[in-house]
Amino acid sequence: MSEDWNKSSWRALPRVQMPDWPDKDQLDWAEYRLRKSPPLVFAGEVRRLKRQLGEVSEGRAFLLQGGDCAESFAEYSADTIRDTFSVLLQMAVVLTFSAKCSVVKIGRMAGQFAKPRSAPTEIRNGTELPSYRGDIINDLEFTAESRIPDANRMLRAYSQSAATINLLRAFSQGGYADIHRVHAWTLEFTRSSEIRKYDALAERITDALDFMEAAGMNSEKISTLKKVDFYTSHEALLLEFEEALCRVDSLTGDSVAGSGHLIWIGDRTRQPDGAHVEFCRGVVNPLGIKCGPSLTPEDLKVLLQRLNPDNEAGRITLIARFGRGKVADYLPKLIRAVSDEGAKVVWACDPMHGNTVKTDNGYKTRRFGSILGEVKEFFQIHSAEGSYPGGVHFEMTGKDVTECTGGVSAVSDENLGDRYHTACDPRLNSTQALELAFLVAEELQTLR
Ligand code: PEP
Ligand code: CO
Repeated sequence: MSEDWNKSSWRALPRVQMPDWPDKDQLDWAEYRLRKSPPLVFAGEVRRLKRQLGEVSEGRAFLLQGGDCAESFAEYSADTIRDTFSVLLQMAVVLTFSAKCSVVKIGRMAGQFAKPRSAPTEIRNGTELPSYRGDIINDLEFTAESRIPDANRMLRAYSQSAATINLLRAFSQGGYADIHRVHAWTLEFTRSSEIRKYDALAERITDALDFMEAAGMNSEKISTLKKVDFYTSHEALLLEFEEALCRVDSLTGDSVAGSGHLIWIGDRTRQPDGAHVEFCRGVVNPLGIKCGPSLTPEDLKVLLQRLNPDNEAGRITLIARFGRGKVADYLPKLIRAVSDEGAKVVWACDPMHGNTVKTDNGYKTRRFGSILGEVKEFFQIHSAEGSYPGGVHFEMTGKDVTECTGGVSAVSDENLGDRYHTACDPRLNSTQALELAFLVAEELQTLR
């Protein structure tokens, strides 16, 4: 990496969306403790993910990234982790079958705590308080005390992430992720619920698995049927946390963000001369860049040059999030900028962040139809431009929440209050997430 970079060089540059920590001693202590702690991920895993994303960038694999908008201390439990992991695996099996290629699986998990906000303060009933910035910084409760940034929260987020990734490693390697078991869950779902209109595709997957079994290709013989590679990701927003978990790989001398396998730069923090781009350019992890309507082709070219000067495949995933009806206004010129540069990138679609609306009864929600609509526009534009739509990025949970409306489970504006638990943006529930995978699968079938 470039000689003028070090893990603290971001500190000299303008930063946005980061808290002013009121207690500097507490901050020093938390950073010290994190520097002494083991990293959450290791260089070899990060390199393997980069290779796999390189395959996606060449059109030979597909990316599925999903999980909470914001992980929280309140929702933390083994069941929550297991349920999100299981739905992601079910989605991946459906996508693998349709895309006829491997699916790289990345959770927004084990570190997705810090949130950028559209306003620095929030007003309720005439009272103005600092905004909630994620459990790693302050508390959701609407009191002056709760909203004070507290650096000790970084240590709690670290411990929760460590326990989460430990469980994910056990699930993905220990037999829980066996493809037959994962597909059996999907069948339970398609046979018993409104989602049965996807029965036909599910039964074709059953046939394929039965055929493989008959031909002697079972999970005892083929380890990839029993184990999965599963990776973690989050927005690298809280740079004190990122810096404190940055490690030098003893094999190569490379700097690695030890906080998660892939880290991304948010739509609000991607200033080419800002602190977030500076930190990310020096670590070797795969990087995501959120691409919203304000990203110009010129800025994208600068970002690609700065973050991936050697044009390494798998290094950059561009996560498009424009909103339904707007993809055609913004995506084609970015695709052309990428192709002008000859840049190797993965193109992924985040149909969540451009489609958030507020209902009359005051809930922040997203319509299933808008989410699917944006995914379809994304596929159509890539097909017209001759580029590869390499993946999807969802905010979702394995729980039966009522945060997004629509889909076969027919959540309506009126039921949003039933189980609205998100600490930040509305997530797809397990039925909606799986249904979306079936619908994305239909799009993918047209590609192959
Ligand atoms: C997010 O992914 O939760 C997020 C805040 O996204 P964006 O930066 O695209 O708004
Ligand atoms: Co979000």
